[in-house]
Amino acid sequence: MSDYVVGLDIGTSKVRAIIGEISDDGVFHVTGVGSSPSTGLRKGVVVNIENTVASISQAIETAEMMSGVEVTHCLIGVGGTHIEGINSRGVVAVSGRGRDNREIGKEDINRVIDAAKAIVIPMDRKMLHVVPQSYIVDDQKGIKDPRNMIGVRLEAEVHIITGSATSIKILENSVNRANLLIDAHMFNGLAAVKAVMTEEESELGSIMIDLGGGTTTVLVMAGGAPLYTAVLPVGGIQVTNDISIVKGISAETAEKIKVDEGCCWMPLIEENEEVLLPGVGGRPPLVIPRSEICEIIQPRMAEILTMVHEKIKGIIHSRPFSGNVVITGGGANLPGVVELASEIFDTQAIRIGFPGNYGGLTGDYRSPDYATVIGLFLTAYEQYSKQRTEQIHREYPAKTVSGRIKSWFKEFF
Ligand SMILES: Nc1ncnc2c1ncn2[C@@H]1O[C@H](COP(=O)(O)OP(=O)(O)OP(=O)(O)O)[C@@H](O)[C@H]1O
Ligand SMILES: [Mg+2]
Repeated sequence: MSDYVVGLDIGTSKVRAIIGEISDDGVFHVTGVGSSPSTGLRKGVVVNIENTVASISQAIETAEMMSGVEVTHCLIGVGGTHIEGINSRGVVAVSGRGRDNREIGKEDINRVIDAAKAIVIPMDRKMLHVVPQSYIVDDQKGIKDPRNMIGVRLEAEVHIITGSATSIKILENSVNRANLLIDAHMFNGLAAVKAVMTEEESELGSIMIDLGGGTTTVLVMAGGAPLYTAVLPVGGIQVTNDISIVKGISAETAEKIKVDEGCCWMPLIEENEEVLLPGVGGRPPLVIPRSEICEIIQPRMAEILTMVHEKIKGIIHSRPFSGNVVITGGGANLPGVVELASEIFDTQAIRIGFPGNYGGLTGDYRSPDYATVIGLFLTAYEQYSKQRTEQIHREYPAKTVSGRIKSWFKEFF
């Protein structure tokens, strides 16, 4: 059997899995995709283990059936309102090789990152990521890679993402109980950024908004690294509930109407557009103007996007942000979301984040709802490639290695 990697996104509305098989030359092809309704989570956190295990198993089995691979391990996404991001910094003296050679080496970089990590994190929280933003060598700021630079003082600015240790443990248990080993974890927001934001956008300063079912995840990127992280306890499920309550219909019917006919920007609705509300309990079906549905959806979507804007407006006004607002997640499928966000954020630099064409992934899956799982999958592949490169380096002499790696990198990029 060929090697494979799997990304698993355990969301509040859906559990999604992607399997990629890796050929002998190191190139990957997506061969399995699975999705199942998720019933064991609230606001991105597991509240019912049995249901979560069942949803995970169903998504994995669907992907397995498509690919023929029997999955035993995966990279999982971690999301939910317990996730927090903080910025920190660390300083060290450059050790160098003797007094006259203060050249910064890998050791110094590791030490300065450790120093930046050494902030007090409560016992009940787990550090998920420590992402370097930039380095300062003596007085020189904004350095991306300080290796081989000369200096006496090295400073690192980092963004640290943490989550509740208990919530993460329960998530891990659910995955293990679905007979899967965990290769690694990744914060869902970073995965979504990887799938839908270009490097240029992330460099120039951009905002990723993932409109999920139970949560809205926000990541502000600047200089190629995260600057701010937040997971808000609001999402598409509330929009569905609003329709269900106002129109007196079941949540299932409300969800279908939202997905098929929903819109969150009134000017997009034509005067004569109508929607059929099915009858409930002997009540006859009712034809209503589509604008009535928009009147319910738009204020709730406006509220969610305003909450996001309130959280980040201080940050985005404190420095130049010349990238884009990139909206993704299932809620990005709602017509009018760009127009509404454009008004709330007072900018035209807004787009929907569609994942790219990775490993032959077909069009159906390259929709915003798949952003997170695609980012997780890509990370699983990167980690696999790194390990493989290290292994080849160990097994083969340097000369033959470079040719071999080059050939499969060339094919991939
Ligand atoms: N075409 C559509 N129009 C409107 N809303 C949609 C559409 N497609 C999906 N959604 C909404 O997107 C939400 C689900 O998004 P997504 O699949 O990204 O969530 P999730 O990852 O399961 O949840 P979370 O990230 O909050 O844990 C649901 O509320 C769903 O109704
Ligand atoms: Mg999600």
